[in-house]
Amino acid sequence: MKLRNIATLFCTCIIFGACQPQPLDEIRTSLDYCHGQVERTLLELKSRESGIDYTLMPRNIADTVCMWHLRKATKEEWCAGFWPGVLWYDYEHTGDPAIREEAEKFTASLEFLSHTPAYDHDLGFLIFCSYGNGYRLTNNPAYKQVILDTADTLATLFNPAVGALLSWPRHVKDYGGHNVIMDNMINLEMLFWAAKNGGGQHLCDIAVSHADKTMKNHFRSDFTSYHVAVYDTLTGERINALTHQGYADESLWARGQAWAIYGFTVVYRETKNEKYLDFVQQVTDAYLSRLPEDAIPYWDFDDPRIPQAPRDASAACVVASALAELHTYLPTEKGTYYKEMALKMLQSLGSDTYRAEEAKPSFLLHSTGNLPAGSEIDASIIYADYYYIEALLRWQKLLMDN
Ligand code: GLY
Repeated sequence: MKLRNIATLFCTCIIFGACQPQPLDEIRTSLDYCHGQVERTLLELKSRESGIDYTLMPRNIADTVCMWHLRKATKEEWCAGFWPGVLWYDYEHTGDPAIREEAEKFTASLEFLSHTPAYDHDLGFLIFCSYGNGYRLTNNPAYKQVILDTADTLATLFNPAVGALLSWPRHVKDYGGHNVIMDNMINLEMLFWAAKNGGGQHLCDIAVSHADKTMKNHFRSDFTSYHVAVYDTLTGERINALTHQGYADESLWARGQAWAIYGFTVVYRETKNEKYLDFVQQVTDAYLSRLPEDAIPYWDFDDPRIPQAPRDASAACVVASALAELHTYLPTEKGTYYKEMALKMLQSLGSDTYRAEEAKPSFLLHSTGNLPAGSEIDASIIYADYYYIEALLRWQKLLMDN
């Protein structure tokens, strides 16, 4: 073991207490646990009377049941790319050809999105988590073409007068204008990637413009975010800022802030413009300063029912993954703080409180999808699992390399 590696483990021992298992060991054990849960899910899907239907994707497990609720991979199902993505990450961890075969089959069910007019902004979630990871791991040229075609489709939602992508075409009338939700920041990664891989500079320009518009209009002076910003379609002026899935228009919806942290980290990576690095630290600090002791947020930081309010493990997974990247761009002291916080999040997520273990085949419990709509409250949700395994793989690589 390299001397630096030993030093890292030693420091982490001090942080977590001498008797705690070391983070790298915990992460490896957690990845093996995830693989076991993936096998369970596949077994469950295979045991259905007609065998696996590769167009049905695990979406959630309500707190009262122990089987995945499956949803058809349609253009309206924004979560359909996460299960193929989980399989690709599990294949990355295990190298198991049987997992790769399943990943390929589920991924193929999303190909139609590359030649279907854009339903909404979620194309990055759908295609970059599935085909993006697939291409990263296999270099399959057909995958590359699907991503490039889908990036072009996503770009059709860009309104130059506003300078941002439209998130929900179906809600333009309800919101009275061009609506942009914070979640849309995650879709920029596919545009940046496409621009670098033959898709054209305009895709990068769209992503940067969207990020700038969001940075200017989606945040309060304390760097907490609104979920939705609404713009005049013709002048591009912001005409409203409100919530869709949070507690209130002026509250801080945890996953919205998590998307912002992840999204602006990507924008800094792709542009190397320091203004994004400064900004994302402010956004991250606003989130970290409001966390409860175990570093897993309540679904909305301003729900008056706290500490009785439900948590959102999915937000913690998104942030733990983003911090794996963000902390590497920062000076030692700040970077170490982010690293400690991320490892604390992973430690909590790996505890009995948050792990599904034998009870359910998901990785995690206690995520909240859309509380105001009464949907996916205190549940297992597939995107929590996706960002959890991504975070574990990222941190494993970092801890092994250092
Ligand atoms: N993109 C929707 C959500 O985060 O729930």
